[in-house]
Amino acid sequence: MKSLIQKLVESIGPSGYEGATREIVRAEIAGLGDEQHIDALGNLIVRKGHKAANGLRIMLSAHMDEIGIIATHIDENGFVRFTTIGGVRPHTCFGGRVQFVNGVRGVIGGERLESQDKVHTFEQMYIDVGASSRADCPVKVGDMAGFERPFLDLGNRLVAKSMDDRISVAVLIEALRQFPANSPHEVYFVFSTQEEVGLRGATTAAYAIDPDLGISVDVTATGDMPKGPKMEVGLGKGAAIKVRDGGMLSDPRLVRFLVNTAEQHNIPYQLEILEGGTTDARVIQITRAGVPAGCISIPCRYIHSPSEMVDYGDVQNVVRLLTATLSGPITLE
Ligand code: CO
Ligand code: ZN
Repeated sequence: MKSLIQKLVESIGPSGYEGATREIVRAEIAGLGDEQHIDALGNLIVRKGHKAANGLRIMLSAHMDEIGIIATHIDENGFVRFTTIGGVRPHTCFGGRVQFVNGVRGVIGGERLESQDKVHTFEQMYIDVGASSRADCPVKVGDMAGFERPFLDLGNRLVAKSMDDRISVAVLIEALRQFPANSPHEVYFVFSTQEEVGLRGATTAAYAIDPDLGISVDVTATGDMPKGPKMEVGLGKGAAIKVRDGGMLSDPRLVRFLVNTAEQHNIPYQLEILEGGTTDARVIQITRAGVPAGCISIPCRYIHSPSEMVDYGDVQNVVRLLTATLSGPITLE
């Protein structure tokens, strides 16, 4: 999966501008689904399988978009002022590089600081694209960019700017490839948009699909770094089955089913309780009259930084857990 992961994480697709990433997914899944379409918000939705008497209509979701920035002002010397798209934090920015959707690259600079201990606020930062005037600046107000950072393969550990959530996009593609021939389920693989700005793509996709069950795949934070947050989840300890995050309580029956499935198939797993943040599963759960929903997470260090780190074994265990889940009837009790 590593070359697919590299292609996905190096593509630029800030929220609402997921086109380049979607094209990679589209090429990758050609011929794998029974039917596919792109909806009004840009979600790529792939249907696979038929619903048997003991089967469910299941929505799986992994978001294609990533955090980024949008140009708000170009000054007379060609420096680009910007604001954020999604949860970008200022201390991850200075000295970093961005790539605009139109291909232009630039570096993030900042005004002189009073003290070396201070971090630039967004108001004090700008993007230098090598222009010398507003007229020759190749970036215009409203242009969007993602952070630029090459994929890094450390063996068991993989690092990239948009593991959140392209690593899960790769997982869904792999799960579609390995779709069990005996599955009793009708499964919608949703490669969603605009998650980082409020779960917007999954909101409309869930309404349209009207699923019996929803599972998102996304990254989750870990507590296994020096003086890290007090959190059980760690890299290399298996697929993380979400119990709770800042936006939802997973359906406890689905949590039990996923735990039992992992145990039956000897798939390493861990339980996730995340204090902040949420995933597409939140909006699947509360669409229409409500849907049993949960999330399988990939543990990830340094989320929303240009160097998000996951464990390759965890990634494969999430694929195994998803595939095992789809292979037979799902009983919620
Ligand atoms: Co995110
Ligand atoms: Zn995410």
